[in-house]
Amino acid sequence: TVVILDFGAQYTQLIARRIREFNVFSVVLPCTAPLDAITALNPIGIVLSGGPSSVYDADAPKADAAVLDLGLPVLGICYGMQFMAHHLGGKVVPSDKREYGDAVVEVVQTNKLFAGLPVELQVWMSHGDSVVDLPTGFNIAAKTHNALASIANEATRMYAVQWHPEVAHSKQGTALLKNFVLNICGAQANWTPAHFIETTVDAIRKQVGTGHAICALSGGVDSAVAAVLVAKAIGDRLTCIFVNNGVLRKNEFAQVQANMREKLGLKVVAVDASKRFLQQLGGITDPETKRKIIGREFITVFDDEAARILKEQEKHGELQQDAKGNEIAWLVQGTLYPDVIESSSVKGPSQTIKSHHNVGGLPENMKLKLIEPLRDLFKDEVRRVGRDLGMPDDVLDRQPFPGPGLAVRIVGEITPERVEILQNADDIVVFEIKKAGLYKKIWQSFAVLLPVKSVGVMGDQRTYAYTCAIRAVHSEDGMTADWVPLPYEVLKTISSRIVNEVRGINRVVYDITSKPPGTIEWE
Ligand code: XMP
Repeated sequence: TVVILDFGAQYTQLIARRIREFNVFSVVLPCTAPLDAITALNPIGIVLSGGPSSVYDADAPKADAAVLDLGLPVLGICYGMQFMAHHLGGKVVPSDKREYGDAVVEVVQTNKLFAGLPVELQVWMSHGDSVVDLPTGFNIAAKTHNALASIANEATRMYAVQWHPEVAHSKQGTALLKNFVLNICGAQANWTPAHFIETTVDAIRKQVGTGHAICALSGGVDSAVAAVLVAKAIGDRLTCIFVNNGVLRKNEFAQVQANMREKLGLKVVAVDASKRFLQQLGGITDPETKRKIIGREFITVFDDEAARILKEQEKHGELQQDAKGNEIAWLVQGTLYPDVIESSSVKGPSQTIKSHHNVGGLPENMKLKLIEPLRDLFKDEVRRVGRDLGMPDDVLDRQPFPGPGLAVRIVGEITPERVEILQNADDIVVFEIKKAGLYKKIWQSFAVLLPVKSVGVMGDQRTYAYTCAIRAVHSEDGMTADWVPLPYEVLKTISSRIVNEVRGINRVVYDITSKPPGTIEWE
């Protein structure tokens, strides 16, 4: 394991992802992690991340400097370099000029970190403070035209760079990180999907024993991969619940069931609660209220179903008991590593973390315990694991779809008729985007139904019907997004098919807003 101590830079997760791309396991810990939490992981090397502060700020994030005395290889990045220099007796000063953006760095003394790299490196800088005096035993390894850019002490295997090798703008960044991880730390490249599956399935088997588990399927990648892993461990002692909330896409309720049962072999209880969701949503136009209603109804429906399933097993005496004689069952969640990092980050827990889901309606003495088989993985790793598990592409490559479904794409009132109109328009968008070979290249592409009606003409008839907006965006993680310039030919086909085939829409417009300032969904 390579341990990354997070001093709060926005790029910290990227360091972990880069290292894992070399098939080496890496973990992000907040910089405040106690020394024994770090050593408990048996690290073979430490990376000190960047951070927004100056080492002289009163509220600068602090790490236990003893991490520098463990005798392990250390790579300091940006703030991590200043932290290292400061604590090893060097001198850091605020520079008069802030370096930000692309820069060229010259390697002045080659070492293991720069092995195989050119003398001139293209790098991405973002820092105010600079190291001016070196700690004892360190050499200057690289410079920009006006400042020191890298220091190293090969004897103690301590290296530091002022720039950010983890971002794509740093051209030789990946090679540099690879040198650190594989050559300097001597890591073995054994963090592979097959290895992950084997150890995870084993762990779940031990954890769950003879117990039962339930899992809510969303139709998306994360919950499906989580369920398949758990099913691989405990077979049909896992029951999946899939709820039709009335705002799924066209044919999705049937398709997801077929996929999950036939292609993935999961035991699925499908609950069609569309009527009750749509009833609750009737007359509501406020976006937040729509979201709250869907969240609340989902929990109610899921809880009822889970309680029914578990009571059945209780009746047959199939439920496990804990040491205190409480009956227990397991709840599978598809939590990913970014959420885990977020919740322990030095920046403080984020407000969007999914809260522990308590199933109501269960007998008093029954406890639900959480299994989160994906909590060590990034999204791209989930897909790799899914592929290794033999899961089909149409499950793994599905574009993200929001929990509140089409409800956040129907601006204004949600009625069964308007849901059907949007389902039909959306189906055409997805079909045409797939046909053009663009589906996997685009983060999300979909239709939005507006409450705006306008006049049109069809044949000899005047029409007065709704407007539909097309949205297509590129994104890495949904946090920011760029609108995609879809080829005019594709837009033309989508537009003419929607107006001709979807009753209720007579005008199609294209959304050319990026995020920020827009959001991806309209509500
Ligand atoms: P926004 O609209 O905030 O969306 O730019 C960012 C990403 O998150 C998805 N999204 C959701 N996903 N539950 C989800 O599981 C939700 O309530 C939800 N709202 C938005 C959205 O599709 C996009 O990928």
